[in-house]
Amino acid sequence: MKELILNIKELVNVELEPKDKANGHTMAEMKTIKNAFVEIEDGLIVDFGSMDNLSPSDIANAVEVYDASENIVLPTWCDSHTHIVYAGSREGEFVDRINGLSYEEIAKRGGGILNSAKRLHDTSEDELFEQALPRLNEIMQMGTGAVEIKSGYGLSLEDEIKMLRVIKRLRRETPMEIKATFLGAHAIPAEYKENRQAYIDLIINEMIPQVAKEELAEYVDVFCDRGFFTPEETDAILKAGIAHGLKPKIHANELDYSGGIQVGVANGALSVDHLEFTGDEEIDTLLKSKTMPTLLPSTAFFLKLHYPPARKMIDAGLPVALATDYNPGSSPSGKMSFILSLACIYMGMNPEEAITAATLNSAYAMGLEKTHGSIAKGKKANLIFTKNIPSYAYIPYSFGSDLIEKVMINGKFVS
Ligand code: NIG
Ligand code: FE
Repeated sequence: MKELILNIKELVNVELEPKDKANGHTMAEMKTIKNAFVEIEDGLIVDFGSMDNLSPSDIANAVEVYDASENIVLPTWCDSHTHIVYAGSREGEFVDRINGLSYEEIAKRGGGILNSAKRLHDTSEDELFEQALPRLNEIMQMGTGAVEIKSGYGLSLEDEIKMLRVIKRLRRETPMEIKATFLGAHAIPAEYKENRQAYIDLIINEMIPQVAKEELAEYVDVFCDRGFFTPEETDAILKAGIAHGLKPKIHANELDYSGGIQVGVANGALSVDHLEFTGDEEIDTLLKSKTMPTLLPSTAFFLKLHYPPARKMIDAGLPVALATDYNPGSSPSGKMSFILSLACIYMGMNPEEAITAATLNSAYAMGLEKTHGSIAKGKKANLIFTKNIPSYAYIPYSFGSDLIEKVMINGKFVS
């Protein structure tokens, strides 16, 4: 069954020869077509181009036709880093921070990730699923078509598996593409405080083998940072994951020059994420790798950290991806268009770079670059139809407005 979208005001991020990712200055070379069409069959883009190349018989033969003369059309966002399976919320800690406590101080007192772990332990799998599903639907309505979701609020074998099973169930309930990541090494649980090696052994000897056996995750993550896991501990956990077929994709350098970028790259990580603390040495390491540096500016915004040096990284020739980090503690939002605004305003990225980072490069950061992240033949027909806005730069510019009229996933409108 053929569908045709006609008269598209501007079709953004088209690729005639699809790349796996865009590096450095090529991030700004995003191609668009004005007055364009897209042809869709079985949920995939089979053709696109200028309306001038479409004959009246092409239009007559289409089964469904949609007029997009008032819409800019973009590929849906790819959100390559989230923690949207969690129990309850943590606005109490938000207020504590307003009153002067830091994120690390809250974590040291047993708040933060351990607070979420306690709540998750007391929440059934069904209830967790019921809480996560509306978050997933919300981000889809905000234009996200593919998302990575991490465990990491379980911190015990049973609860980590519970989280990952919820992610598996979510996958059955949504047309969105979901990738799952095992993040048992998110924090050291309170009962292992005096014997952290025992928890690391539990991750390596019990959790990873079980996750792999049940095929509950594709990636393994570690929070490699000051006060959390050291590079040596990270290395051991990543190697155990790799031995069980899990590819590394890690949290690094959010709180300090932690060595996380280096240990991630040394283990062939698909992405290293956060990167508020990235210097020349880290940039050099990344330049010699295929690892995608992934920036999460809403965490810097929400925790009032300094932003990662995106401009310096792109100017040095690196690719950069953007994601939301949607989680209850450091980024309670999954709104990708706001991430674009932050990237432009605080990290000096131009709108083209920000769109590339939030589509093609973030697709790469979850292994989806062949099917997602741009308008290309054979890719999924996952499209954002904007309201009638003057240009795509209006998306990061008008940061508070809801600019999406419709979202299409696999060739079907979901809003
Ligand atoms: O990505 N950095 C580590 N983990 C999360 C925060 C988790 C939390 O505070 O609940 C993050 O920012
Ligand atoms: Fe995170």
